[in-house]
Amino acid sequence: MEWTPDPRELADLELLVCGAFEPLTGFLGHDDLRTVRERGTLADGTPWPAPVTLHLPADVTPGDEVTLLDPEGLPLAALTVTAHEPDGLTSGPVRGLGTPEHGPFARLRRTPADVRAELGGRPALAVTMRGPLDDLSEIVATAKELDAVILLLPLAYGEAGPAVVRAALRARDQLPGDTLVVSVPLAPRDEPEIDVELREHVATSYGATEHLPGPDPVHIPGPPHRRGLVVFFTGLSGSGKSTIARGVRDALLELGTRTVTYLDGDVVRHLLSKGLTFSKADRDLNIRRIGFVAAEAARHGGLAICAPIAPYAATRAEVRETVESVGADFLLVHVATPLEECERRDRKGLYAKARAGLIPEFTGVSDPYEEPDDADLTIDTTHITIEAAVSRVLETLRSGGWVR
Ligand code: ADX
Repeated sequence: MEWTPDPRELADLELLVCGAFEPLTGFLGHDDLRTVRERGTLADGTPWPAPVTLHLPADVTPGDEVTLLDPEGLPLAALTVTAHEPDGLTSGPVRGLGTPEHGPFARLRRTPADVRAELGGRPALAVTMRGPLDDLSEIVATAKELDAVILLLPLAYGEAGPAVVRAALRARDQLPGDTLVVSVPLAPRDEPEIDVELREHVATSYGATEHLPGPDPVHIPGPPHRRGLVVFFTGLSGSGKSTIARGVRDALLELGTRTVTYLDGDVVRHLLSKGLTFSKADRDLNIRRIGFVAAEAARHGGLAICAPIAPYAATRAEVRETVESVGADFLLVHVATPLEECERRDRKGLYAKARAGLIPEFTGVSDPYEEPDDADLTIDTTHITIEAAVSRVLETLRSGGWVR
């Protein structure tokens, strides 16, 4: 069978296959994980600091061979399953399938064996980097003292990956001429000590005789009016969310200071989500699609306005996470007009049809709506005008600095 691991798992896979995680040759199972956590060794006593895991929800049994694919479908490695736990944890050795690497700075990814060969037995001072280096003099002095080649290892993982490699290339220009830069896709581990230990292991496999962990990056977010933003309206059909969302969109277009992407529920279902039903699975898929597009707009500093019903809390939370993972902000606006009022208005006549049993799975009538408990703004339109509701959203955007 075939399987596409998630980005973290793919990063670990690449390091396993190229030998940067030696002596590991595959993903860890329960026994190894327990001893790694308890005493920093594999079950057989080999020192190893950090979990390296793969989850495979599909049904596999020991002995199966699984082809691991990248997100575009290229085969990267073959995994021979040795164990598969009920929670999906799958262990077993991996073998690279020799697919050429791609991605930014792919040419700077080299195998540990190749780098060791270039070092030719000379002592090497590795500096693992997750952000810019602020003090090169310490590195130069230490390298001199050890008579070592400097090996800059930018740990290029995720959105910030290319920026870390650029920081390494900038640093190299101010370091001795034989300084090497090798990009390593090592995902950070949650616990700082474990993270540093793993960095040290990886540095050693690249031939380092000494390791200096570079400083943690200081993340300075840009001003809010330059950051991407997703304003996500949720509420029952007829609650007024589309009307408010449209009012906010128009006001922003009049101001002209931000680029706006507008993703209304009904509009989305004409193309992006055409053909989807109102089952839970299809509603979730609809919301994920909306979230994906909104996050792409916000990634480039845009402001996206979404206005679907989005009845499920977990799916809304997923969108929040997607948006925040691209460095943008997320604002959840709950248009909390009660069902009775939405039904009284019944502008599209849908509630009447739903009550008559003509529309199955109708939100609020015969299908759930999970009220948000994480709304950044709540608006009940029962007793206020559209203009007032739009003003409240705009006021929130102004006071948060997103709009000037
Ligand atoms: S969501 O649940 O997937 O977020 P979405 O916002 O796209 O819903 O679509 C809701 C719109 O579809 C409503 O405004 C209404 O016009 C229409 N609609 C048709 N059938 C249903 C249904 N069973 N439940 C809710 N809305 C429906």
